[in-house]
Amino acid sequence: MAGKLQNKIAIVTAGGSGIGAATARRFAREGAAVVIADLSGSRAERVRSDIVSAGGRAVAFKMDVADPEAVEATVKLAIDSFGRLDILFNNAGMAEVSLIHETSLESWQRVLAVTLTGTFLGMKYAIPVMRRQGSGVVVNTASISGIRGDYGMGSYNAAKAGVINLTRTAALENARHGIRVNCVCPGAINTRVAEILGKGHPDEFRQRMGAAHPVGRMGEADEIANMVTFLASDEASFITGASFVVDGGVTASTGLPQMPGIQS
Ligand SMILES: NC(=O)c1ccc[n+]([C@@H]2O[C@H](COP(=O)([O-])OP(=O)(O)OC[C@H]3O[C@@H](n4cnc5c(N)ncnc54)[C@H](O)[C@@H]3O)[C@@H](O)[C@H]2O)c1
Repeated sequence: MAGKLQNKIAIVTAGGSGIGAATARRFAREGAAVVIADLSGSRAERVRSDIVSAGGRAVAFKMDVADPEAVEATVKLAIDSFGRLDILFNNAGMAEVSLIHETSLESWQRVLAVTLTGTFLGMKYAIPVMRRQGSGVVVNTASISGIRGDYGMGSYNAAKAGVINLTRTAALENARHGIRVNCVCPGAINTRVAEILGKGHPDEFRQRMGAAHPVGRMGEADEIANMVTFLASDEASFITGASFVVDGGVTASTGLPQMPGIQS
């Protein structure tokens, strides 16, 4: 049976780990050929090798989404390797934790460069190719942190909010050119963030983050890949300019505690 993305050509940035790796593997299982682009060449190579061993098509590319030449080269690699570009999963992003008044300008600029400018650059170089083809799909990774604030994550909150609104503008500009642009807003997902942000206590981090979600646990990378795959597929043909929370119910809440006497 043909997959949802049969014969499509996709780029997945930050494809070497977490949400990107789960999505690259899923895209390949659905019949797409995938360019796995990541700052870590070894992580990208591991995902490529798994996909090819399972009978799929993939190439790995070490790159930095904040570097315009590297992003342009990634798009060129997709064309040179597979002949076209149907799907861009613009997924790379990064956070650094500090209070706004204690955040250095360098840290602010680094987070914005990877998370927001990187998303812009992916679209800047992919959209002309998609316009020439008359079709294409972009899925950007935003976050619930682009909808609400987090203590100590100001640069990330600002960058992800920017991703959500840039998604809308890109959708408007390209709707008549056969290109759809949407974004996903994950809640806390069980990837390397538990090690990175958990400061040596990943299990405690997972436990605290999970408890903050109405469903009582963090999400898994495959649960984001499910939404991205749907948005990238023709099943989402009437969906553009939208953002989709996949967050175990976090943003359904005002954040206030349960009323006295109520136990749900
Ligand atoms: N994990 C979460 O809780 C969560 C929640 C909401 C949104 N997100 C977003 O999802 C995306 C993926 O996060 P994840 O948790 O899967 O991360 P992860 O840490 O598991 O993987 C991130 C990958 O990105 C690569 N990378 C980092 N900087 C890069 C750059 N400049 N250029 C190219 N590649 C780069 C890393 O090498 C790594 O392989 C990010 O945009 C993140 O902000 C994550």
